[in-house]
Amino acid sequence: MPSQRHSPRARVVVVGSCSIDLIVQVDRIPGIGETVIGGKSHSAGGGKGANQAVTASRAGAAVLFVGRVGRDDFGRSVVAGLRRDRINISHVTTDAKEPTGIAFIFVGKGGENSIAVASGSNLTLGPRDVARAHGVFRRGGTLLVQLESPLRTVTAAVAAAARSGMRVILNPAPAQPLPDSLLRRVDILTPNEHEAESLTGIRVDGAAAAARAADRLRKRGVKTVIITLGARGAFVCGEGCRALVPAFKAKAVDTTAAGDVFNGALAVALAEGRPMIEAVRFGQAAAAISVTRIGAQPSAPSRAEIERLLKKGR
Ligand code: RIB
Repeated sequence: MPSQRHSPRARVVVVGSCSIDLIVQVDRIPGIGETVIGGKSHSAGGGKGANQAVTASRAGAAVLFVGRVGRDDFGRSVVAGLRRDRINISHVTTDAKEPTGIAFIFVGKGGENSIAVASGSNLTLGPRDVARAHGVFRRGGTLLVQLESPLRTVTAAVAAAARSGMRVILNPAPAQPLPDSLLRRVDILTPNEHEAESLTGIRVDGAAAAARAADRLRKRGVKTVIITLGARGAFVCGEGCRALVPAFKAKAVDTTAAGDVFNGALAVALAEGRPMIEAVRFGQAAAAISVTRIGAQPSAPSRAEIERLLKKGR
């Protein structure tokens, strides 16, 4: 993909979660009732929404984030991190009662992870917060949403974006059943293999099964489905496009947020007007860099890093 100047029209609105991730690196992830003495610990910005917002900003878009923190040190740290990444936080509100979301993350030797989330203030982000942000839902922009916020909030955001003529990208993570009325308004749905299975009942164990799952989701109204398949790449299925796009090779030390980084970068590339397969490659390159680093937001690459990897190739 040729190197391009950032388009001033790459505007991305992210509605979603923001948390603090408390991470412990372990040789192996502890089982039930087991204590494992871990290695290094880290704390960093997390939450799928904020991870996607940070990625999109570092990848070159003007990003506005709609989210909610608690009135506590974690909340202040989340907001400071978003501000450092030059994200518009005028629609990040503070909940007086609920604490900021926290995710407890174990990262194993091979980069695999196990995550438990205490959602806290993320669960009080409501349709009213979306309504208050109505001015930011403008034609030409892109909305990026995930499922760590209440479904009614996601539904309100998708409806507002669709009404305004924005592109709607829904990353259905973590998985939960979704009504067709919502899917019909989604331009691009980006499940991983587990989320695709949970939405369709089809076990997604390769490209052929991914194709069947994508067809089923398109029948329910989604325009384009991108099923991420980890190291095997991403299966893309939309109007006039049906392809398995291979992944970049990477030595994973932490796969946390690889999906978020993919989505954030994909949104930017599409907002800049790149064709679908190119945009998927842009997202894959960003995700491949992110898995070589520890942490969610600390691992999101800069625009220059993404372009370097694209130039180098797989
Ligand atoms: O997708 C990774 C994210 O999921 C982490 O940052 C954690 O906060 C959880 O929400």
